[in-house]
Amino acid sequence: MTAAVTSATAIRVQGLEKSYGKLAVLRGVDFEVARGSIFALLGSNGAGKTTVVRILATLLRAEAGTATVNGFDVAARAADVRESISLTGQFAAVDEILSGRENLILVAKLRHLNDAGGIADGLLARFSLTDAGGRKVATYSGGMRRRLDIAMTLIGDPPVIFLDEPTAGLDPEARIEVWKTVEKLAAGGTTVLLTTQYLDEAEKLADRIAILHQGRIIVNGTLAELKQLLPPAKVEYVEKQPSLQDVFLALVGDDGTHGTSGNARSADSGKE
Ligand SMILES: Nc1ncnc2c1ncn2[C@@H]1O[C@H](COP(=O)(O)OP(=O)(O)OP(=O)(O)O)[C@@H](O)[C@H]1O
Ligand SMILES: [Mg+2]
Repeated sequence: MTAAVTSATAIRVQGLEKSYGKLAVLRGVDFEVARGSIFALLGSNGAGKTTVVRILATLLRAEAGTATVNGFDVAARAADVRESISLTGQFAAVDEILSGRENLILVAKLRHLNDAGGIADGLLARFSLTDAGGRKVATYSGGMRRRLDIAMTLIGDPPVIFLDEPTAGLDPEARIEVWKTVEKLAAGGTTVLLTTQYLDEAEKLADRIAILHQGRIIVNGTLAELKQLLPPAKVEYVEKQPSLQDVFLALVGDDGTHGTSGNARSADSGKE
């Protein structure tokens, strides 16, 4: 394994830019993620969340800007970054022909771990897949695949984990199970960067939340800081705090355009 890096910052992203042809998807993205924290990246469809994750996971190169993960530059030290991370992509990356257990064993062996079978059995139990473990993944439900996919991500205890829409398509119980897993990981010191379309997921899990919109991070703060961006709505003399959804829609606009007259600012003041 790569030597531990002790800096308090697990992920540092500065001025990241990426275009696909004429489409400028990232136009100067900046954020930092503290070690052992959960950071949620929100944004509408096509905002560039997966693009950010792919750059941080060394699957894609940025055109400008820098990013470090676990202290390693993603461009110059890609191999060290890969040793430090694990990625659950937006679409499940499990092998259909193999059983769930075989998928886990395969990844454990690829990571050169001893007792691949024991690791597989432990993860099957943890994700309530013990009974299905011997069955081909082709027979699994969407939620079971997703759980297997996340289980595969945890093999080898990487210090930084990227979860791209980890609970998309899961039923409420399975979502809660994934949330618990993510919380436990962070409590144990793992840094988690997740993207999500579910604002309640970000509310529930994230230490900090950033909204990616039109190529930039337009807000970045704790849930409490984000809620302060909108005044509490008054309904018949009862003060109602805005939900994260209210904040998101006011900033991004229901139609995907900028909401509050383009005036959204970074909630962590020292930034601009
Ligand atoms: N390989 C590619 N070639 C061309 N355009 C691409 C490519 N990958 C992504 N894009 C475009 O870049 C933009 C950002 O895509 P990205 O997948 O990063 O968005 P996202 O925020 O993850 O969206 P979603 O919420 O739908 O997953 C989109 O407009 C997408 O069509
Ligand atoms: Mg995506």
